[in-house]
Amino acid sequence: MKALVLAGGAGTRLRPITHTSAKQLVPVANKPILFHVLESIAEVGIVEVGMVVGDTEDEVRAAVGDGSRFGLAVTYLRQSAPLGLAHAVVIARDYLGDEDFLMFLGDNVVFGGVGPAVERFREHRPDAQLLVTKVADPSAFGVAELDGDGRLLRLEEKPANPRSDLAMVGVYLFTPAVHTAVGAITPSERGELEITDAVQWLLVAGADVRVLEISGFWKDTGTVADILEVNRRMLEAVEPAVLGEVDAESRIVGRVRVEAGARVTGSTVVGPAIIGAGSVVSGSYVGPATSIAEHCTIRDSGIEGSIVLARSVFDGVRRVESSLVGRDVEVTAAPIVPLRHTLVIGDHGRVLLPPTTLGF
Ligand code: G1P
Repeated sequence: MKALVLAGGAGTRLRPITHTSAKQLVPVANKPILFHVLESIAEVGIVEVGMVVGDTEDEVRAAVGDGSRFGLAVTYLRQSAPLGLAHAVVIARDYLGDEDFLMFLGDNVVFGGVGPAVERFREHRPDAQLLVTKVADPSAFGVAELDGDGRLLRLEEKPANPRSDLAMVGVYLFTPAVHTAVGAITPSERGELEITDAVQWLLVAGADVRVLEISGFWKDTGTVADILEVNRRMLEAVEPAVLGEVDAESRIVGRVRVEAGARVTGSTVVGPAIIGAGSVVSGSYVGPATSIAEHCTIRDSGIEGSIVLARSVFDGVRRVESSLVGRDVEVTAAPIVPLRHTLVIGDHGRVLLPPTTLGF
């Protein structure tokens, strides 16, 4: 069995971070989401991985390389434009040959991995096997309608009036039967070849399509709020350790990992939190659900529930929360309680400031 990982797409909802980085490479608990995906694949004994890439091919290649670090052999497959998940299967046809495959969207996180799903597929070998899970807003996803016995009746991509609350997780298991289906469907209203339509086509054609409901936590990390939530949950599973230095004036509370070469002085760090290698936290408060990447400086500042990427600096600022901060960013104090704000923000940035009701 091979795996097909989809790591293209523009990541528009994560701008400006995705102006300079692939959405699959945004780190949660200081590790790119895509690495969590590759680890889940390696865990089920798959070695050969086709990585479908788009405009961000260079960054994905630089981060993942040949995959040997994960015990994988990665082959890059370039998708000329983001024409849909089923289109990715079309361009991977030669690579996949006549093997069964696990298709995994590179921005999906399945806690607890996909071991039971792959085992189930290997046991019964249906033409296709989907993973589904209950969500609050199914209209944002592919939606599966089942009968009373759990058999699949119908699939719809992002329906306005969902027939169930079961969303399709971005993890699919296929036999080569899917190749006929992806060749038979036409683009959806959003102009993409939808994998949901391909599987629906199989179903109508009388193929054996099975559904497995997963109980563990799943997230498609499309938005900043999703990423912060995944970060919080991932941090809860991080091995706490102090590999760097923490001075006697600092307090470490709960699950905290201080990586090698990091220094914490005169600060309080409340877990779950991680301080990346080479970062310096001084005179500061780092609260729960915070990931500070490598070589950052947090000085006389407060931050919680946030992700700060490599080499960024916070200096003398009051509590920042629920924030996703890019690389090489500087957040510094205004000289007085500010009546004016000075901003240097990338395109599509988002900033919350005090309202004019407090005066101009
Ligand atoms: C895609 C699929 C959708 C599925 C979702 C899971 O949506 O089309 O059926 O539920 O992934 O992440 P997209 O991320 O392309 O909007």
